[in-house]
Amino acid sequence: MHPPAYTPAMTQPPPTARHAAFARLKALADRPDGRRITPLFAADPGRAARFTAQLDDLSLDLSKTAIDEAALDALFALAEAADLDGFRRRLFAGDAINQTERRAVMHMALRAPADAGLRAMTAHGAEDAAAFAAAERDRMRRLVDSVHAGDARGATGQRFTDVLAIGIGGSDLGPRVATEALTIGRRDQTLNAHFLSNVDGNAFLEATRGLDPARTLVVVASKTFTTQETSMNAAAARAWIVTALGETAVAAHFAAASTNRTAVAAFGIEPSRVFAFQDWVGGRYSLWSPVGLVIPLAVGWKKFQSMLDGAWAMDCHFRDAPLRQNLPVLLGLAGIWHTNALGCASHCILAYDERLRRLPAHLQQVEMESNGKHVMLSGEPVGWDTCPALFGEPGTNAQHSFMQLVHQGSRVVPVDFILAADPGPDRPEAHRPEAHRALAANAFAQAEALMRGRPEAEIRAEMAARGASLADIDAIAPHRVAAGERPSTTILFRALDPFSLGRLIALYEHKVAVQGCLWGIDSFDQWGVELGKQLAGGILPELTPAAERQGLSAGPRREHDSSTTALIDRFLSLRGE
Ligand code: F6P
Repeated sequence: MHPPAYTPAMTQPPPTARHAAFARLKALADRPDGRRITPLFAADPGRAARFTAQLDDLSLDLSKTAIDEAALDALFALAEAADLDGFRRRLFAGDAINQTERRAVMHMALRAPADAGLRAMTAHGAEDAAAFAAAERDRMRRLVDSVHAGDARGATGQRFTDVLAIGIGGSDLGPRVATEALTIGRRDQTLNAHFLSNVDGNAFLEATRGLDPARTLVVVASKTFTTQETSMNAAAARAWIVTALGETAVAAHFAAASTNRTAVAAFGIEPSRVFAFQDWVGGRYSLWSPVGLVIPLAVGWKKFQSMLDGAWAMDCHFRDAPLRQNLPVLLGLAGIWHTNALGCASHCILAYDERLRRLPAHLQQVEMESNGKHVMLSGEPVGWDTCPALFGEPGTNAQHSFMQLVHQGSRVVPVDFILAADPGPDRPEAHRPEAHRALAANAFAQAEALMRGRPEAEIRAEMAARGASLADIDAIAPHRVAAGERPSTTILFRALDPFSLGRLIALYEHKVAVQGCLWGIDSFDQWGVELGKQLAGGILPELTPAAERQGLSAGPRREHDSSTTALIDRFLSLRGE
């Protein structure tokens, strides 16, 4: 039975003051030189220090943006108009910040100590979220330790060597980025991790290629346990295990993470292997929950705990630091400046670190699913732009693909550069320090090039010095001009380790919350993805021959637009069905 819905008040400051604050930001950007960065450096030798915020070894440099003192004041005026301070208090107090789903937003409790006193409002009153999370974490740890010790083994008595993590969206991207970040370049993982998210059968073949079912533990992660892709992949994995080892092997080879205990039980996973979390954890914020079980299985419990500690350090900083020294707040405000003052529609994430190669994919979900919204909490349309489209690749690879557009394209794309100073002091293999220096040189050079650009006069002089003819100079020089004044922020820290990884991801999580608050939207629902899911469920029976429709409600053929009808017909005819 569903509990009665907890009904929070849909309150937020009236949009009037916010409108005025957004208008002020635009006016500042429209000043002569309001979008230029280099004059700010020329005018203020202390700019880099003044516009760099720090938390221990982690620094956030905003100086290569056009934000000056006046713009910063205007951004904080917006924060005040949106009551960011009150929002932050209500978030940590466990209020139903996710108003449209009437849920608290308390993923911070997943990384907090058990006695942190973090509570989440639920239909049954306030729940001790940190204590709940810690109890579940203890259960996870027992399973992880017993797998690593060889006490928990496969059905044939062999030790587990591999873990196959099945999930999609938040139940895949976060665990995947963390596992990769802590295993790439190393040889000390405890289990080899494999990920399966796409419903495409090729993804299943690829994920299980070379895997021995007898030595594979399958972890199914799904907040709802109703997601089509995950259900189909979990069923395929079950069949793969059963075919190789028999029906009785399922108990030994499966574990699950979900808020939906009933659906997990129906799937047949042994209850002691089912790890729970509550609906105050959003899918894209769930890697810290049992959804991330693959992480300690692959890297060991100590590192997983250290990752949680790093995220908790960022939580405490976000909760306690004054707004003007608060890294998530500053990162969020920089994004607001770029989106709402400059009108940038996209944002680029460049982590100069191969281990963070999936970070842009994870942040795409965290940012775009959270803040890709068009109405305010009141249901009225927002009067300003919200989340830009995010994209990214690891540096330096990006430099050899899309960075041309970022340097010279017709639109401004702000960039976040992310870099660790040290490739990792605890790395067991000898690493090549010169390679890491080259990586860093490229990161700094890109940011500098974006800001400085290349004026035509300099290019003409250089071409002339090389003996180019005037005709050649006239023809070529304009193509080589880079206007510069293109903004970036740089996030630099000592080394990528479990602690700094947790801190980095939590930095972006809170940045998103800050921006959602300023835009006045619900960052924690995702109604927009529902329609596509519903329609896909309706179309699937139309693509399935009658004999195979078991379990699919065939129903009468739906009315589609003529394009969709023609595509379905053509699909069937191409398959000869
Ligand atoms: O379709 C979007 C979404 O609901 C995401 O919010 C979520 O991370 C993903 O699907 C997977 O959902 P689940 O964990 O319930 O399988």
